[in-house]
Amino acid sequence: MKIGSIEFDSYPVFAAPMEDVSEPSFRYMCKKHGADLLYSEFVSSDAIVRQVKKTMRKLVTYEYERPFAMQLYGKEPGIMADAARIIEDLHPDIIDINFGCPVRKVAGKGAGAGLLQNIPKMIEIAERVVKAVSIPVTVKTRLGWDDSNKPIVDVAKQLQDVGVQALTIHGRTRAQMYTGEADWTLIGEVKNTPGITMPIIGNGDVDSPQKAKQMFEEYGVDAIMVGRASIGHPWIFKEIKHFLLTGEELPPMTLAQQVQELKEYMNKSVEVKGLPQGVIHMRRQFAKGFKGLDNFRDTRIKLLTRTDYDETLALLDEIVAKWGE
Ligand SMILES: Cc1cc2nc3c(=O)[nH]c(=O)nc-3n(C[C@H](O)[C@H](O)[C@H](O)COP(=O)(O)O)c2cc1C
Repeated sequence: MKIGSIEFDSYPVFAAPMEDVSEPSFRYMCKKHGADLLYSEFVSSDAIVRQVKKTMRKLVTYEYERPFAMQLYGKEPGIMADAARIIEDLHPDIIDINFGCPVRKVAGKGAGAGLLQNIPKMIEIAERVVKAVSIPVTVKTRLGWDDSNKPIVDVAKQLQDVGVQALTIHGRTRAQMYTGEADWTLIGEVKNTPGITMPIIGNGDVDSPQKAKQMFEEYGVDAIMVGRASIGHPWIFKEIKHFLLTGEELPPMTLAQQVQELKEYMNKSVEVKGLPQGVIHMRRQFAKGFKGLDNFRDTRIKLLTRTDYDETLALLDEIVAKWGE
């Protein structure tokens, strides 16, 4: 599968863009475990054209991260095109446009998934961005606005016609936010629509190697994208890739191995963000990790409230001592 001139291995598995999660240390872990494409957190086109420092910092990337996509959102075609030009100067491999974010501060203002209510404007934005840059432009969106409005098959054709080079579809509507189950049938329909030649990346609820395989097989997608299941568990990419390529499950990571991974992640996070932010960033990971340990609540609360690096390291070691085999 190719996006522009970027060639991917068989069964590509992409690391989903996630605000406040997909920063360099998380991406480092996803890459280490085999994610085939990394994305920045989404950035606002308004903030890019104003060169807002906090936003520009979100676009700091490293050579080892390639291939790398920077994701942009906004609602004004001209500003989106200007922002894309600025971003192109930072040398990403791909610019991805977010037409899927459901939160009120984005979709409610007519950006992100809000554009699913104004398809002509969505297409105009895509066209302007494609024309503004010389690198591949891709799109990530949802099935539609709500249950009675799921135009994704037609939207996909229109996006392809204006030069979009790949489409990621999250199998939910805006109205669903993150509730219910992702519906992949329409994703498969887009993939099988005659005339759709751009790669289709399926997204939504992939949380195991088996599910990843099922999605490739049942829906024929060119790649899958994994988001929430990688939080606290970034080695899921390795587990999925291994299963897809060999048909065999990797043995589960021991607790000691998991702790080792999370320590490496925290060190990278501290390197990127300093103290105590680098430790605080890990809370979301600690909240999702260490599933199934008996009487773990008190330790988890400590992990989610401490800001001291040494104390957190000691807590992690204690987990192995208490719960490891
Ligand atoms: C905390 C969080 C932040 C997210 N931020 C973004 C974002 O910046 N851009 C984007 O396109 N999607 C974002 N998403 C959506 C994910 O990329 C993905 O589409 C969604 O979580 C469904 O995939 P999953 O079931 O594998 O998690 C975010 C999701 C979460 C949970």
